[in-house]
Formats: sequence, C-alpha cells, structure tokens
Amino acid sequence: MSKITAAITAVGGYVPEDILTNKDLETMVDTTDEWIKTRTGIEERHILRAPGSGTSDLGVGAVEDLLRKRGISAEEIDLLICCTVTPDMAFPATANIICDKVGAKNAWGFDLGAACSGFLYGLTTATKFIETGTHKKVLVVGADKMSSIVDYTDRTTCVIFGDGAGAVLLEPTEEEVGILDSKMYSDGSGRVYLHQKAGGSLRPASHETVDAKEHYIFQDGRPVFKAAVTNMADVSAEIMERNNLSSDDVAYLVPHQANLRIIDATARRMGVSDEKVMINIQKYGNTTSGTIPLCLNDWEKKLKKGDNIVLAAFGGGFTWGAVYVKWAYNS
Ligand code: UT7
Repeated sequence: MSKITAAITAVGGYVPEDILTNKDLETMVDTTDEWIKTRTGIEERHILRAPGSGTSDLGVGAVEDLLRKRGISAEEIDLLICCTVTPDMAFPATANIICDKVGAKNAWGFDLGAACSGFLYGLTTATKFIETGTHKKVLVVGADKMSSIVDYTDRTTCVIFGDGAGAVLLEPTEEEVGILDSKMYSDGSGRVYLHQKAGGSLRPASHETVDAKEHYIFQDGRPVFKAAVTNMADVSAEIMERNNLSSDDVAYLVPHQANLRIIDATARRMGVSDEKVMINIQKYGNTTSGTIPLCLNDWEKKLKKGDNIVLAAFGGGFTWGAVYVKWAYNS
C-alpha cells in the first residue's frame, strides 16, 4: 500500500473590516509612519471592533470562506485545531466554539498555543491525524484577536499587531504532494522576552494585575528580533538541506509576518529572490497564528500543483519551525 500524505486541499482567510493605519497610530502614541514602515514594513492592520466578537468570529470567517471555496459542508469535518494565543475564553476551547458556530457537528476539536509558530505546530499535529488514516478532513485554523491583548499606549508593541485568521483543510492523498516534512523547535528559556504576565494560573487576574497592565503583551524587542533572525533562517535552511531543495527548486517562501527585516534575512539565507517571498505584513501587521494561512489565501490563485513551498515561523516561547509542502492543486 502506498503511503498516505496530508495534502492542503483548500484555504480560507478573514480579516475584520476596520483598519488602523500608521497615521492613526501617530495620533495615539509617539511614533511616525516612517519609523513603523522602515523598522517593520507595516502600513496598516485590521482590528475587530464589533462588540461581543472574539477570536472565534475571525476563525468562523476563515472557515466559512474555505468551505465555500472547497464546496463542502461543515458536517464533513472530522477535526478542527484552532491555533491561537487569544482564545475567546480560558475554556472551553475556541475550536469548540468555532465548530458550534459553523455547524461542524461531527468534528472534535482543541486549541493549540505556540504563539507565532502556532499555525506550523498545528499543521504538523494535524498531519499526523491524516497520515495514520484515522481522519479524512482536518481543519487547521490560525486565528488571533491581538487587539484584545495590545496596550495602545505602548508604542513598542501597538504598532506591530493586527487581527485576522486563516484556515487550511488537510485531506489524505497517495500522490507525492502535501506536507512532506516538518521540523519544530522550542526553547522555553525565551519566555522572559515575550509573554503576557497575568491571567494564567501563575498570576490570576486581580485588581493589581489590571492596574499594572499585566494583561497586555510584554515584549523585549531586540533579543526577540535577534533570535528570530537566526532561528527562522537556520530552520528554513535545514528543511531545504534535508529535502535536497536548492533555492531554484523553491517556488515560494511563506514566512511568519513579524517584521520585514526578519523575512528578508530568512530569504537571503535561503537564497530565494524577492518575488518568491510571500509578504502581506504591510496590510495586516503581525496577526500571530493568522499570518501564514493568510499568505496562502492571498497567493492561492498563483500557486500551482507541484510547487515546492517552505513555511517558516518564529514566535514566543521561544518556538520556531519550518514545513515543506508540495502544493496539491491548481485553483
Ligand atoms: O512575532 C513574534 C515574534 N516577534 C518578533 O519577531 C518581533 C521582533 N522584534 C522586532 O521586530 C523589533 O525589535 C521591533 C519592531 C519590536 C522594534 O524594532 P527595533 O529596530 O528592534 O527597535 P528597538 O527596540 O531597538 O528601538 C529603537 C528605538 C528606541 O529608541 P532609543 O532607545 O534608541 O531612543 C525605541 O524606543 O526606537 C524606539 N521605538 C520607537 N520609535 C518610534 C520603539 N518603538 C517605536 C515606535 N515609534 N513605534
């Protein structure tokens, strides 16, 4: 019997309507459009402002877009993994809420948190459910309402993040396409540089934690930047080497969209030219778990069956990794 591989057979994406531009941020904190563009590459980001809306609503948008394009009903989904650091609530899982809202009555689901590497961790996990033959249709959703944990008086973080979600569907194939390799890493000692201090079991919410603004993202940008440049480039080179891929063999690099300078460094290390690098950070900012599937969604029409694609991410944890995908369809 030939080997079962997990193929990406559909993608979907969703960003909320409201846009927060660099010019808007100039009126909120001591920053400039010029600084944000040259240091990060970001021009605007989308923000979910509708009252009573959470990360699940972003995920629902992406899943419904995907189901419509693939022409299947939500009831056909076996499993939904929601990668997020901004769940609707501590429990139940946002995956459960998305399944309920889209009508995925036959699916089970769980959340997976690996910060900006969440989507790649989720994709790697989902692949195993397909490869073992136990599941036929698995959705991996990367969704984050980052605006819910951003301090809009802190110029070092509020310019970076945006809200959005992307989703991919994995299905089994016996063709030589799909998720062909993946390499994930983590180093928990990096937690001191990027985290949310309170709201977990270590420091439950209290008046003190709210007054001290401990429910917002804390980031010490420079060490995170340094680690991201090194590790994202290294793991991308590693996945190319162990699959005998030259830069000419790679059709696209799909990097996590944290900073244009980190993306450029990774592309240079891989030797891939600019037109092969998916970049949409200018319009969405860093949507954490959403960045990579949102890129795939934006580029879907350009992708051809058989294209070699390298996905790469680095994030809080620290967590990082790369996935080698051979694209499975023409749209
Ligand atoms: O996605 C998860 C992983 N996260 C990342 O990969 C993010 C990695 N880090 C970064 O992308 C960058 O470190 C930042 C974009 C966060 C910051 O850029 P930087 O070039 O590393 O700036 P910096 O932190 O070294 O700060 C340089 C200067 C500082 O002023 P002084 O101390 O030199 O006077 C900052 O206070 O820029 C100042 N600064 C700003 N100025 C205008 C910081 N933020 C801003 C701002 N506008 N928004």
